[in-house]
Amino acid sequence: MTDHIRYDDARGCLVLLDQRILPTREEYFDCTDTASTIYALQTMVVRGAPAIGVTAAYGCRLALDEVGDGPGWQERLQAKLAELAAARPTAVNLKWAVDLMTALWKDSGEVTPARLADIWLARAKELHAEDIEINKAMGRHGGALMRDGDTIMTHCNAGALATAGWGTALGVIRGALELGRKVRVIANETRPFLQGARLTAYELAKDGIDVTVACDNAVGLLMQRGMVQQVVVGADRVAANGDAANKIGTFTVAVMAKRFGVPFYVAAPLSTIDRNTPTGADIPIEDRTPDEVVFVGATRITPEGVPVYNFAFDVTPGDELIAGIITEKGVLRPPYAASIRRVFAEGAA
Ligand code: MRU
Repeated sequence: MTDHIRYDDARGCLVLLDQRILPTREEYFDCTDTASTIYALQTMVVRGAPAIGVTAAYGCRLALDEVGDGPGWQERLQAKLAELAAARPTAVNLKWAVDLMTALWKDSGEVTPARLADIWLARAKELHAEDIEINKAMGRHGGALMRDGDTIMTHCNAGALATAGWGTALGVIRGALELGRKVRVIANETRPFLQGARLTAYELAKDGIDVTVACDNAVGLLMQRGMVQQVVVGADRVAANGDAANKIGTFTVAVMAKRFGVPFYVAAPLSTIDRNTPTGADIPIEDRTPDEVVFVGATRITPEGVPVYNFAFDVTPGDELIAGIITEKGVLRPPYAASIRRVFAEGAA
């Protein structure tokens, strides 16, 4: 699946498969400017850290159409980029992509908006293609850790839909299958947005991969019964010490995995590792609208007036609970402060 994020050159807009209504209907949403791109990010037309990053890269290009080329266009553009970068707080790929485009702008000297539009669109398309290659590399490294016959639990959707294609955690599953290892998947449903039940189940079933959906609160039972051999999840931000933010409920899965001796892996590209965030305690956790918890579809399920929590992410302590962080450069092992430092130093060498 690769056409869920597509730049339409003829119309000059970004076309996104609307993940809010999958798997019921496959409909597309047009991002034509900064406001519609931010709306798509915030309402989760598109979601998942790497997919957010690629969308933001195209969003920078769209912002250029709004600032004109008269005096002060640079300041107007800077303000649009700041708005875009702040659309969601936890997935660092958003800021990573906007920073990358900003650096490209600053390196381009005296450019006109028209010239910058060409430079940014070309770079956004490259990032889009590179993300798929990065996921495939992660899939090869992580796939080798899975054994024939394993049942792999995953939480949220860290698949093709959450990336430019292939997936991080689901890329590891695809990598294992490519190695000829027959693995099965348990997709935790992932309340309240149901990324597991709706999106992971949708894309794996579409690809003929053996997937079963389980309620989030079945994790303990499934592990106690020996029905899970591996856990692989994605991440929205990995701190410099290896603590990993991912969809709410991931931390609970990791604690259970430790209790039952099940290896717990995080699959994340280097763009998700934020060396400017020292520990998990420094990762901002998105607090979303209560309506996502209060309503299932159009039906209200909690009494009027009762407050609810809707924290969208939690943080899993790296050295304590994560067996390995699977990146495109290989599998990092604890202690993560050292292995993360090493992998970036090697990249710079
Ligand atoms: O709120 P979401 O759906 O954007 O959260 C997504 C996740 O938590 C994913 O697991 C994470 O971004 C990794 S995606 C490859």
